[in-house]
Amino acid sequence: MAQMQDITVPDIGDFDQVDVVEVLVKPGDEVQPEQPLITLESEKASLEVPSPVAGMIKEVLVKVGDKVHEGSLIARVEIAGQAQAEAAQAPPPDQPKGAEELSKAATKAEASFQDKPDQGDAPPIEPPAEDRSKPSAESPTAPSTHAERKPPPDTGHPALDISPHGKPLASPAVRKFARELGVDLSQVHGSGPHGRITQADVQGYVKQQLARPASTAGGGIPPMPQIDFSRFGEIETMPLSRIKRRAGPNLHRSWLNIPHVTQFDEADITELEAFRKSERKASEARGIKLTLLAFLLEACARALRDFPHVNSSLAPDGENLILKKYIHIGVAVDTEDGLLVPVIRDVNRKGINELARETAELAELARARKLKPEQMQGASFTISSLGGIGGTAFTPIINGPEVAILGVSRARMQPQWNEQENRFEPRLMLPLSFSYDHRVIDGADGARFTRHLAGLLGDLRRILL
Ligand code: COA
Repeated sequence: MAQMQDITVPDIGDFDQVDVVEVLVKPGDEVQPEQPLITLESEKASLEVPSPVAGMIKEVLVKVGDKVHEGSLIARVEIAGQAQAEAAQAPPPDQPKGAEELSKAATKAEASFQDKPDQGDAPPIEPPAEDRSKPSAESPTAPSTHAERKPPPDTGHPALDISPHGKPLASPAVRKFARELGVDLSQVHGSGPHGRITQADVQGYVKQQLARPASTAGGGIPPMPQIDFSRFGEIETMPLSRIKRRAGPNLHRSWLNIPHVTQFDEADITELEAFRKSERKASEARGIKLTLLAFLLEACARALRDFPHVNSSLAPDGENLILKKYIHIGVAVDTEDGLLVPVIRDVNRKGINELARETAELAELARARKLKPEQMQGASFTISSLGGIGGTAFTPIINGPEVAILGVSRARMQPQWNEQENRFEPRLMLPLSFSYDHRVIDGADGARFTRHLAGLLGDLRRILL
């Protein structure tokens, strides 16, 4: 039968009510002898209570914030098979050295108030160059960094791990864990009581560092400071949607890797809109909503055919251009959870009604979160239309490795000068915002492309030529 062992708080000397500041195990965890189970903190010192045996935690009887004293029950451990036999014969397991250890620790802590910050055994994960240029919080010349890391609150009694020099508050186990990973604790934001750094904080920091796009690691881009906004007022933290979490790194990568230029232009769509309205009823009879977007797709396909390098990607070697003989256009769709970009294939081979129907179907699938991965792949160009919402212009981010994207804002009736008749006349003008990769498309070609597109939209007959 499995043998159970109760683990209690050891002799902690003069301290009769000590705070539990960390619980490092949970039921079901396998533990080894000397593995810390909880961290206690008195006014002067902190101490980890290790497991005296190997086994499995069956029950944890304390929680963070509890006050305990010598003899308080911490946990019940089911002793591991082999250890069980040994435990039956061996003298009572080594209890933590209690008061002696605690007072030793306190002495060491007081001494460490004068010490340098804990550098650990391993070299810390190097913060990016820009971080290194920032004076360290411990540097005598450091500016006040309290906006970047919450200072330990004045509890009236210094806890063991806080130094007046702002040494991060963390238990010995967390310090050891950080040292093993090479993490500099002064870079880690503590989420525990009094800003204490927990093991989860260290893990979170490492994950965050690993998730940094490669181009930002050492790329000279200063990271955003970690600010505790609750210092300024009430806040609420909510997770980003899955779509935004996935799209974010792609947008960031494009923004950082592609030298963007945005060319603004306007297309006179007075005639196009009149034509669309005249055809709308006939399309509706076929169950199709004839949208401006369908005309934009058709005109873009033609413009891409005429400007093949806009329908391309830079080869990874940066020395060749991959021209695509197909014209697949991504359409940005605004969904409740963020932006999705379904792709309409072979736009140049489809009629306007077909494009309108397919766009509506894909947008509906996107909003119902039913798009298949292959329906979002293979685009050679993208259109982002915010015309249904409003605005006059914007600077869309290229969906790399494509080399260009067309942003469309809301068409407005505007006075245009008619040179032949020497008068202003009202025309429906559609704002175009064309972002392009300046390594592939130069400024003159960017302007030629939007002029050409505006010409096609201004007179649809040109598409036929
Ligand atoms: N100027 C004036 N009116 C416009 C317009 C424009 N550029 N574009 C659309 N409209 C009108 C439409 O004609 C429609 O009016 P109607 O019902 O009277 O015909 C209305 O605005 C709503 O259009 P919308 O629902 O946007 O349809 P759409 O076919 O134009 O666009 C999507 C479809 C999927 C592109 C669009 O719904 C969408 O999601 N846009 C957001 C894209 C986005 O978030 N981009 C940001 C990326 S950075």
